[in-house]
Amino acid sequence: MSRTPLSALIAATLLCATAQASAQQAQPDFPDGPGKQTFVNLCGGCHDINRVRLGYTPEGWRTVMRMMLNFGVPVPQGEIEPLTQYLIANFPERPRPAAVIIAGPVEAAIKLWQVPTPGSRPHDPLATRDGAIWYTGQLSGKLGRLDPKSGEIKEYPLKTPQTGPHGLVEDKDGNIWFTGNHMSLVGKLDPKTGDVTEYKMPDPKAKDPHTIAIDGNGMVWFTAQNANKIATIDPNTMAIKEYALPNAASRPRRLALTPDDAVWYADFSRGYLGRLDLATGEHKEWPSPSGPQSQPYGIVFTKGALWNNESGAKPNTIVRFDPKTEKFQSWAIPGGGDIVRNMSVTRDGNPVTANSLVNQVGLVEVK
Ligand code: HEC
Repeated sequence: MSRTPLSALIAATLLCATAQASAQQAQPDFPDGPGKQTFVNLCGGCHDINRVRLGYTPEGWRTVMRMMLNFGVPVPQGEIEPLTQYLIANFPERPRPAAVIIAGPVEAAIKLWQVPTPGSRPHDPLATRDGAIWYTGQLSGKLGRLDPKSGEIKEYPLKTPQTGPHGLVEDKDGNIWFTGNHMSLVGKLDPKTGDVTEYKMPDPKAKDPHTIAIDGNGMVWFTAQNANKIATIDPNTMAIKEYALPNAASRPRRLALTPDDAVWYADFSRGYLGRLDLATGEHKEWPSPSGPQSQPYGIVFTKGALWNNESGAKPNTIVRFDPKTEKFQSWAIPGGGDIVRNMSVTRDGNPVTANSLVNQVGLVEVK
C-alpha cells in the first residue's frame, strides 16, 4: 500500500482558520445605511465579521446570502434584501488578476453540472469506483452524488444541522465518510439506505475536522488542525515528520503525490506550485501562470502531470504542469469556476472539481 492517502491527509490547509474568530473582536467602523444593524448583529457570530471585506460581485453576494441562510443564520425575512443591498453597495469585488491562459500540447474539455440546492458551496469532490462524482455541500448540509453519464444528481441530507461537511472519502464497501467541519464530527453515509452514522470528536478541543483519508488497512484518518508545514505520518509508529518550507510566507493548501516520492503543493498565499522531495528534502518551485495573486488551491497528479486550480484568477483556471518539461498549460473554467477547493481523479484518470461559489461540480476530460 502506498502512503498516498496518509500523506495527502496532511495537506496543512488554513481554509477554516478564520472560522474561530468571533463577535468578540473589536468591530471597526462599517459604513452606515439600511441593513447595517442586521449585519453588525448577525454576521460576526461564527467567523470574523471583517470577512465581508474580501468583496464579491452582486451575484456573488446573493450566493453568499443564500449560503448563510442555508446554514441557519437567523436573518429576519424583511431584512434579507436590505442586508444584501448593504453588502453589495459596500463590499464590491476586489480587483483580481486576469487568468493567464497558456496553450500547450494537451487537449482537454471542461464539463460542468449545477448542483440542485442553491448556495450549497460544494467544497470537496470525490470520484468513486462506480464512476460517480460525489461532493460535500458544506452549507446545504448534504452530500451529493452525480452520475456524469446521465447528469442525474441525488442529494443525501445529513443528520445534524450545521454539520458543514468538508472532506470526503469512499471505503471498501462504498460508504462515504466525511468530516463535519462545523460540528466537530466525522460521519459515514451509506448510499444504499441514506443512513448517516456520526462520530463526535472525543476531545472537544479538536475542532475543524478537515481532510479525510482511508489507508490500506481500512483505517480512517483525518486532520483536525491547520498549519503551514508539510508533514508525513507513519501509520505504524504514528511518528510525524515535518518539513519546513524555505519561504516563511508559504501557505501550502492541497497536496498531490507523484510516483517518484515527491510531494507537490499549491502555495495559495504566494501563487506558486512547489515540489518537495521526501527522500532528499530538496525543494523547488515555479510561479503559477496567473501570478502572485492567483491563489492556487485544489491539486491532483494524473496522466503524468500535475493539475491544479487558480482560485484567485478571473476566471478561475485549470493549470497543467508537466514535471518532465517543466512547462505549464492552462484553460479557463467556463462560467468562472469560483474556487475549486479540492480535486479528485476518476478511474480513467480525469480530474474532477467542486466549484464552490458557482454551485457546480466539474470534470476535466483529457483527450
Ligand atoms: C451560524 C454561523 C454563521 C453565521 C452567523 C454567519 N456565517 Fe458566514 N459562514 C459560515 C460558514 C460555516 C462559512 C463557510 C465555512 C468557512 O469558510 O468558515 C461561512 C462563510 C462566509 C463567507 C465566505 C463565503 C465564500 O465561500 O467565499 C462570507 C462572505 C460570509 N460567510 C458572510 C457572512 C455574512 C454576511 C453573515 C451575516 C448575514 C454571516 N456570514 C454569518 C457560518 C456563518
